[in-house]
Amino acid sequence: MRIVRSRSALSEQLNAIKSDGESVGFVPTMGALHSGHLALVKHAALENNHVVISIFVNPTQFNNPEDLKKYPRDVDADIKKLEELQDVILFLPAVSDLYPKEVRSKLIDLNGLDKVMEGEFRPGHFDGVATVVSKFFEIVQPTRAYFGEKDFQQLQIIRLISKNQFPGIQIIGHPVERNRDGLALSSRNQLLSQEDQKKALLIFQNLNWAKLQVPKLSPDTISHSIIQNFEGSALEIEYVQIVNEDTLQKIDSWEDVKSARIFIAAHISGVRLIDNVSLF
Ligand code: PAJ
Repeated sequence: MRIVRSRSALSEQLNAIKSDGESVGFVPTMGALHSGHLALVKHAALENNHVVISIFVNPTQFNNPEDLKKYPRDVDADIKKLEELQDVILFLPAVSDLYPKEVRSKLIDLNGLDKVMEGEFRPGHFDGVATVVSKFFEIVQPTRAYFGEKDFQQLQIIRLISKNQFPGIQIIGHPVERNRDGLALSSRNQLLSQEDQKKALLIFQNLNWAKLQVPKLSPDTISHSIIQNFEGSALEIEYVQIVNEDTLQKIDSWEDVKSARIFIAAHISGVRLIDNVSLF
């Protein structure tokens, strides 16, 4: 692994690679790396000659300053996790590399994909994500970029940006990586006790239950039952949404829908968790 800490140092490395005609896979992250992130890196390494992984806690995508402050950071531990990986470049940019003038989001039309679910409950979040990912795409100019389905809405938004602004970059989705019990891996899990992590399994259990009810029950009936299942538990539901996978708009019936997905966001002990599964 090589570590580069500035935009110019990265360009130097990439120029040599690209002049040899070799491919570059890119995995943007905010650090506190876990096996979910590492699975993306390994996926990228299988399909490209070189991999760039970035670690940058992007301030513009946090609508809540407390959340930004609380976000887990441990670059030394992250470096240890990546040390053994060959042909991996770790990019640790400074804020001024990405935001030379002002630390602010650009306004990008995201076709309404940013108005639902995470976008509704975290206003401005996807403007921040779209801004930083576009900046990274300009700097890295990868052959392929890898994003997890854990943040499925983010993945669909990046696909849209890529189609409109970066048609040369192939966007690859990677399935949700889970622990042995089924809890979706997340940097935020380390803020939870073991006991809370067990309680949080309620999310995945309900997502799986929903999958078994299609097409017997309607989307609304499933969502209402899930809300009831969470009542009296340690988790407080923020939203349950069953949506068309392409438009991310809520669906009222299964008819005329090519693929549907169910999403849950919930809070436990002050930590916000999200998860989703494909229904069909
Ligand atoms: P972060 O939350 O660090 O996630 C980095 C990448 O890892 C994202 O593509 C995310 O979907 C993926 N990922 C996280 N947990 C996963 C899991 N359990 N299974 C599979 N993939 C998983 O997402 C961000 O950072 C930021 O918004 C970013 C894109 C870096 C822009 O700042």
